[in-house]
Amino acid sequence: MGSGASSLVATPLGYRANVLLPSPADAKYQVCVVYVIKAGGACDLILFDSEKNKDDVKEFEALTAKYDALIVRINPGQLSQGTADGTQKRFDDLMNSYIAKGKLIWSSPKIQMQMGAKDALVNIGKLNCGLMDTYAYYTNDEFISGFKKTCAFQPRVIKQNRGSAGEGIWLCWLWDKAKNEKIEIYPSAALGDKSLGDDDYVKLMEMNDNHVEYHTVKEFTVFCIDGPTGAGAGEWKSTFPGQYLKGGKEVGGQLVDQRLLPRIDEGEVRILMAGDTCQMAIHKKPIGGGLSAVGGMSDYTYYKPTDAKYKGLVQKLYADIPLLLPSLHLGDEPLPLIWTCDYIPKNPDNWPKGPYDRSCPDDQTEYTVGEFNCSCVGISKFQAVCGGEKTLADVPDEDYFDACALTDLMGIKAIEMIKAKKGHA
Ligand SMILES: Nc1ncnc2c1ncn2[C@@H]1O[C@H](COP(=O)(O)OP(=O)(O)O)[C@@H](O)[C@H]1O
Ligand SMILES: [Mg+2]
Repeated sequence: MGSGASSLVATPLGYRANVLLPSPADAKYQVCVVYVIKAGGACDLILFDSEKNKDDVKEFEALTAKYDALIVRINPGQLSQGTADGTQKRFDDLMNSYIAKGKLIWSSPKIQMQMGAKDALVNIGKLNCGLMDTYAYYTNDEFISGFKKTCAFQPRVIKQNRGSAGEGIWLCWLWDKAKNEKIEIYPSAALGDKSLGDDDYVKLMEMNDNHVEYHTVKEFTVFCIDGPTGAGAGEWKSTFPGQYLKGGKEVGGQLVDQRLLPRIDEGEVRILMAGDTCQMAIHKKPIGGGLSAVGGMSDYTYYKPTDAKYKGLVQKLYADIPLLLPSLHLGDEPLPLIWTCDYIPKNPDNWPKGPYDRSCPDDQTEYTVGEFNCSCVGISKFQAVCGGEKTLADVPDEDYFDACALTDLMGIKAIEMIKAKKGHA
C-alpha cells in the first residue's frame, strides 16, 4: 500500500490507482475490501486462511470484528472444498453473528442461499418480473409428477441449482418419435389436466453447449435423479453427472421448472446492479443459432441504464425492488452490493397471437427473471487480469475506467447502506 500521492498514476484518461488506495484519515466507517475508499470508507483486504481457521474461526474473527461492514468475495460452498469439515458453516455462523450485531455483510449467507438459488424464481412468481407457473421440486416424487404435468401442457425448462454457465439447464419439448418432429398440440389443455407417461418422448437441449438429445421421460427423470449410469437412464451425451436432487434440500438439491420462453433466441438482458441502482444493462444474444445466453455462447452489447432500449425494464425492476427481498423471505436484509438480474423477453400472456409471435412491439414486451446472481459477481473489466502474474496495473486504461464506474458506484452504495443501517446521515 503506497502513500496517497504515489498510489495514483497519470494516464490520458485521468488518474488511476494500481494498488489499494490509502484510507481517508478521517473515515467515519470501517469496511473490508477495496471499493469504498473513494466514497469515504476506510478499507482493508483480509484473507480467510482456511489453515489458520480449521478448528474454529477465531483468527479470522480477531481480524474482522472491528469493521462496520464486510464485502465477502467467496462463493457459497467454496469453503467446503479442500478445507476442514464444517468450515463453511463456521464462517456462515460468524457472518450471521455479525449481522445480529448490526454489521452489514455483502452478501449474507441467507441472501446467497435464498436469492442466489434457483427456487427464488418460485418466490418471485407474483412480482412483475416473475411467472406464477414456476415450480420447485425437492424430492424425486415431486419432480417426477410435477414435470410430467407441466411438460404435458407446454415446453418447459428444468433447472438444477448447483451448476453454472448452463450446466444442467435443460430446455424440454415434447417430441413425436415416429414422425421425428415437434409435437405442436400438447396433451394437456390446461396445466394439470393430463400427465405424460414414462414412455413419452422429449427433445432436450442443455444450455452449457446447446447440444440436443432425445430421451423418454423415464430416461430424463432417471438422469436427473440418479445420473447417466442410473438404471434405465439410457445413453447420454451430456458430460455432467445429473443427480440434481442429491443430498436433499438442505444442501441445495432442487430442480426448478419454468415455462420455456421462446423469445430467448432474441437474447437475455443482464441488469447489473449496485445496491438499489442499475449500473449497466448487457444484452446477451445467443450465437450460432443456439438458445443459450450464457457466457461464451452469446454476444454481449452494453447499454447505459438511461438508454431508451432498456430504460423501461430498469424502471420496472426499481418498482419491484421494495417487494423483491420480502418475497424471498429476506425482508430484513440489505440489497446485495453487486448483483445481477437476468431477464428473458416474452409476449404478454394474453397476447392474441401467442407466445411465439414476433410482432409484439418493444413497449409491450414483458421480461421475466431467469436467475439472480448475488454472490461474488465479477467486475468483468478487471477479470481479464485476475489471478496469475498480472496485476491491476496490467488492466488497459479504458477497461480500468469502465470497471471503476462500477466499483465507485458500489462504494457510494456501500456507504449509503451503512449510513441507513446506523441511522445517521
Ligand atoms: N425460461 C426459460 N426459457 C428459455 N430459455 C431459458 C429459460 N431459462 C433459462 N434459459 C436459457 O438457459 C440459460 C441458462 O439458464 P440460467 O437460469 O441463467 O442458468 P445458469 O445459472 O446456468 O446461467 C439462459 O442463459 C437462457 O439462455
Ligand atoms: Mg444464467
